[in-house]
Amino acid sequence: MTASPHLVTRPSGPLRGTLSVPGDKSITHRAIILSALADGEAVIGDYCRGEDCLNTVSVLQALGIPIEVARKTLKISGKGLWGLREPDRILDCGNSGTGIRLLAGLLAGQSFFSVLTGDASIRKRPMGRVVGPLRQMGATIAGRCGGELAPLAITGSRLSGIAYRSSIASAQVKSSLLFAGLFAEGTTSVTEPALSRDHTERMFAFFGIPIVRQELTVTITGRTSLGAKDVRIPGDLSAAAFFLVAASIVPGSDVTVIGVGINPTRTGILDILHDMGAQIDVLNRREQAGEPVCDLRARASELHGITINAERVLKAIDEIPILSVAAASAKGDTTFTGAAELRVKESDRLATMACELGRMGVKVEERPDGLKIRGGLSLKGAVCQSYGDHRVAMSMAVAGLIAEGETQVHDSACVATSFPDFDKYLRRLLTPSGQG
Ligand code: S3P
Repeated sequence: MTASPHLVTRPSGPLRGTLSVPGDKSITHRAIILSALADGEAVIGDYCRGEDCLNTVSVLQALGIPIEVARKTLKISGKGLWGLREPDRILDCGNSGTGIRLLAGLLAGQSFFSVLTGDASIRKRPMGRVVGPLRQMGATIAGRCGGELAPLAITGSRLSGIAYRSSIASAQVKSSLLFAGLFAEGTTSVTEPALSRDHTERMFAFFGIPIVRQELTVTITGRTSLGAKDVRIPGDLSAAAFFLVAASIVPGSDVTVIGVGINPTRTGILDILHDMGAQIDVLNRREQAGEPVCDLRARASELHGITINAERVLKAIDEIPILSVAAASAKGDTTFTGAAELRVKESDRLATMACELGRMGVKVEERPDGLKIRGGLSLKGAVCQSYGDHRVAMSMAVAGLIAEGETQVHDSACVATSFPDFDKYLRRLLTPSGQG
C-alpha cells in the first residue's frame, strides 16, 4: 500500500492490530436531522466525517440551523420542530442517496420552497420511490421525468398521514416518510415487504418520539416536539467490513475493530462470513444511543463458497462489493440472489464488481438479480476503476492484497464519501509494528 492519487495495493504480510472505524453513516445522517429539529443544543460525538454526512450538515446550516463542526464532534443548536427556514440556495446532497431521500421527506411538510440536488450519480438514481408516497401525503414536488429524478423542487405543503405499503424493503423510503410524518396531521405508517435497517425507528425512540412497530409496519403520530439529546455514534459496520474481509483472506491476519454497531438489520455480513468459514468473534457487547455495539475480532481463515439469498442480501445491502472479494478468495462458487437493488446504488454494483473482479482474472457471471463468483483461482493485480463508487474502490483495494503484482484503483477520491483516510487505516494494519 503506498500513498498515491490512486489507491495502490499489492500482496502484503498479515494485517494486525486494533482500530476504530468512522461513525456509522446512516446513524449520523439521522442524528443530524433529529438534533436540528430538537429544542436546544446537543453534541453528536464520533460522527461520520465522510462527505455524505458533511453535505447533510451544510443543508441543515442552509436551513438556518447553527452547527459547529469539529474533528470529533458536531454541536447542533436545534430550533424545534417548526424552526427551519427557507434556504436561499439550492441544497446539494452530493453523492448521498440517504441524504437526498431523507431530506425530501423533511422538506415536504415545511411552509417554504426548497430545491434538492446531488452529484451526477445522484441525479441518475430513482427518486420516484419517495416522491410518489410523499405526493400521496399532499406534498408538492416537481422533478425531472415527472419527479423520478433530481433535482427536486419542493413547495412546502400541509401533509396528512397515510398508511403506505412499500413494494421495496428500503430504509431510505421508510425514513423519508417517517420524517414527513413528523410534520403531518394524524398518523403515518409504513409497511415494508421485509425489515430494512431500523436506525430511524431507534433514533426516534431515543429522542422520545412515540413510535409503534407491529411486525413489518411502523407508525408515528405527527407534530410531537422533541428534546435535544447528546448522541455518541457507533462505529460503522459497513466501514469495518473492509478490514473484517481483509483480515479473513490475508494469511496470518488478526484484527480487532472496536466499538462497531451490530444492529441486527445490518449484521448480514457477519452471518455470511461465518457461513463461509470466517473466524470472527463478537466481544464486549454493549449499547450506545439505542443501538447494540461490540468489538469484532477477525482472524485469517480458509473460506468456502455459499449461496446468499435475498433475505441475507438485505441485511448486507452495502457489503456485497466486499463480500464479492471474499467470494473470489473462497474455495468454490458463491452465488448472490435477490440483489437487484444493487443496480441503483452509487454505481450499478452488480455490473461494476463483475467487471472489476473480471479484470483481476476472477470468473464472475453477472445475473439480472445477482452474481455467481468462482472462487479460489489466483487473482492478478490490475488497473481498476471505481466508477465514483466508494465501496467499489475500497473493495478493489482489498482484493489487491491477495492479487499477484500491483493493483491500482483509479478515481479513488470517492472513498471520502464514507471513509476519509481509508488508505491510512489499511497501511497502519499492514505495518509490522501496527503503528504506521
Ligand atoms: C441506507 C439505506 C440503504 C443503504 C444505504 C443507506 C440508509 O439504502 O444501501 O447505503 O441510511 O437508510 P436503501 O434503504 O434504499 O436500500
